[in-house]
Amino acid sequence: MQVRIHAIADSAAARVVELRAVGGVQLPSYEAGAHIDVTLGNGQVRQYSLCCRQPGGDGYRIAVKREPQSRGGSAWLHDEAKVGMTLQISTPRNAFALAPEAGMHLLFAGGIGITPILSMAYALQRRDQPFQLYYFVRDAASVAFAAELQTCPLAGRVQVLAGQSPEQTEASIRTYLATYPAAGTHVYVCGPAPFMQAVAAEASLRVGPAAVHQESFGAPLAHADGDTPFTLTLQRSGLQVPVPAGRTALACLQEAGVALDCSCEVGVCGTCRTAVLDGVPLHCDSILSDAERQANNCFMPCVSRSKTPVLVVDL
Ligand code: FES
Repeated sequence: MQVRIHAIADSAAARVVELRAVGGVQLPSYEAGAHIDVTLGNGQVRQYSLCCRQPGGDGYRIAVKREPQSRGGSAWLHDEAKVGMTLQISTPRNAFALAPEAGMHLLFAGGIGITPILSMAYALQRRDQPFQLYYFVRDAASVAFAAELQTCPLAGRVQVLAGQSPEQTEASIRTYLATYPAAGTHVYVCGPAPFMQAVAAEASLRVGPAAVHQESFGAPLAHADGDTPFTLTLQRSGLQVPVPAGRTALACLQEAGVALDCSCEVGVCGTCRTAVLDGVPLHCDSILSDAERQANNCFMPCVSRSKTPVLVVDL
């Protein structure tokens, strides 16, 4: 879909970009937690969470923090993007949805991880479902969407924690989790990897891994034994595809002529998700929950590998 940059504003360290459909077209609705692929003016494709008050309609909103180690996406949006430019975007996809069965939703955001979490808060408020949002930031000046978070309807359900040490952050997470009954509570987290790991570890102990949901748009997780060669056996075609050290399973599949949809190629969008029929994947993506990892029935070939010499996949 083609969209036009309608407005650009800065909110703390984040650049907030409003996108409007071209030609009066209505943009598709979406569920809270969804993201879109954006083809930037430099040709790079990046994934950004949608953080609108209302899903769909005539506009989307994304927020992008300038990353010092930017692979080009945040730098382009901060330095080159201008109101009036047109961009290509995908339809929204969601690998970070709210659990319909939850009786209580605890939302944890770290830094720019507030973007999908903000959408979730608005959705829960509209549905009149119980939730609490904990937003951890480096300092008070780093609070993105401060005005929105301090006004109704979200005010009173948002707690901002600024300048906490890692030890204080862990203690806060434990305290907040213990405030609510474990049964029926689902936990959602988005933010930097160490923050996500801290929340996921504590939450898994408290509410169980199946009730912990996370999304990260950072680099893929490195793994100590991630460079061991293995072979992919394609169940449907019977093909054997070797994956040597230093190459991704996705690249080897594409080279063997296997058509597989992909987008981010860094394990954060879920587009290349492939069913595993036998063998044990070595998960290096940033989107599967602990429960999904332990189920061993799918993997992201753009980054993930295999713990077993052979991985049988449903291709
Ligand atoms: S292409 Fe995005 S997770 Fe593999």
